[in-house]
Amino acid sequence: MKVASIAGLLTLSAPAVYGWGASGHQAVGYVAMQFLAPQALSFVQSSLGSTYSQSLGPAATWADEIKSNSAYAWASALHYVDAEDNPPTSCSVSQSRDCANGRCILTAISNYTSRVVDTSLSTTQRQEALKFLDHFLGDIGQPLHVEALAVGGNDISVKCSGSTTNLHALWDSGMINKLLPANYGGSVTTWADTLATRIKTGSYAPLASSWISCSSTTAPATKRSIEDDITGLLRPRAITPLECPLVWAQDTNSYDCTVVFNYTTGTDLCTSSYYTNAVPVIEQQLAKQGYRLAAWLNVLFDGSTNLP
Ligand SMILES: *[C@@H]1O[C@H](CO)[C@@H](O)[C@H](O)[C@H]1NC(C)=O
Ligand SMILES: *[C@@H]1O[C@H](CO)[C@@H](O)[C@H](O)[C@H]1NC(C)=O
Ligand SMILES: [Zn+2]
Repeated sequence: MKVASIAGLLTLSAPAVYGWGASGHQAVGYVAMQFLAPQALSFVQSSLGSTYSQSLGPAATWADEIKSNSAYAWASALHYVDAEDNPPTSCSVSQSRDCANGRCILTAISNYTSRVVDTSLSTTQRQEALKFLDHFLGDIGQPLHVEALAVGGNDISVKCSGSTTNLHALWDSGMINKLLPANYGGSVTTWADTLATRIKTGSYAPLASSWISCSSTTAPATKRSIEDDITGLLRPRAITPLECPLVWAQDTNSYDCTVVFNYTTGTDLCTSSYYTNAVPVIEQQLAKQGYRLAAWLNVLFDGSTNLP
């Protein structure tokens, strides 16, 4: 969020600034669990332990839960990047323009990627790094977490199934809270299983390898891989910024120029074509981020994505 808009933001209820609501974040974590390579899985299970049922699903919401703890106030800017673009006319994310102070989701992913494998840190610090990655790889798939306009949509009042909410919260949780009971019996694990099956054998299977290639549609010349990013970052003199998180942010941000701001003021967005246009994007973004999270951890702990 832009600093100039913080005063306005404070009048909103706290959940309005969360990333995907709890269900969206958990879905990303549960999808990732199905694609972890052996050493990544082993680290995840031992690091998270029984507190989180040894799973990235339950651990994915920790980074939002600590927002009410003033000791973690420093982390609140790390959940997003304020892209100063101009949707729906033009969409873009630039690290130098949009993360000039070095404190945004792009630098946070870099930071916690190094920290999660830093054996000089305590097990608690490494577990925190894992929980931040689990969460931020979810947030970077939410189009209004990579957008400055109207404080990431927080300042745009909209209707969802008769209730008044804002565009940001609609994407975090409003539409998901309708989708889950309607299509998945209200079960996040049923939902995540469905998304993972689409990746393995269903409609996402032909797309999955492109999701983890880090080649950008806006900069097709970029041919950096997850392996390049991680080996570059972990060298004695780290190579930054990373390429993949920026490509993911740009991919997500492109939806700000298609579905996200494509509505007529006054229509109920959860009972109109807006909802039917948005749901496939939400589901694909969550599946994508779960798959990317697994690939990222696999490269870190097993040396390659181990994925098709
Ligand atoms: C990096 O992680 C440390 C420990 O959590 C934190 O104090 C620092 O603010 C982080 N920086 C960024 C840019 O994420
Ligand atoms: C924008 O909304 C209109 C009306 O529902 C729809 O026909 C069109 O496909 C939408 N565009 C996108 C990119 O979703
Ligand atoms: Zn968040």
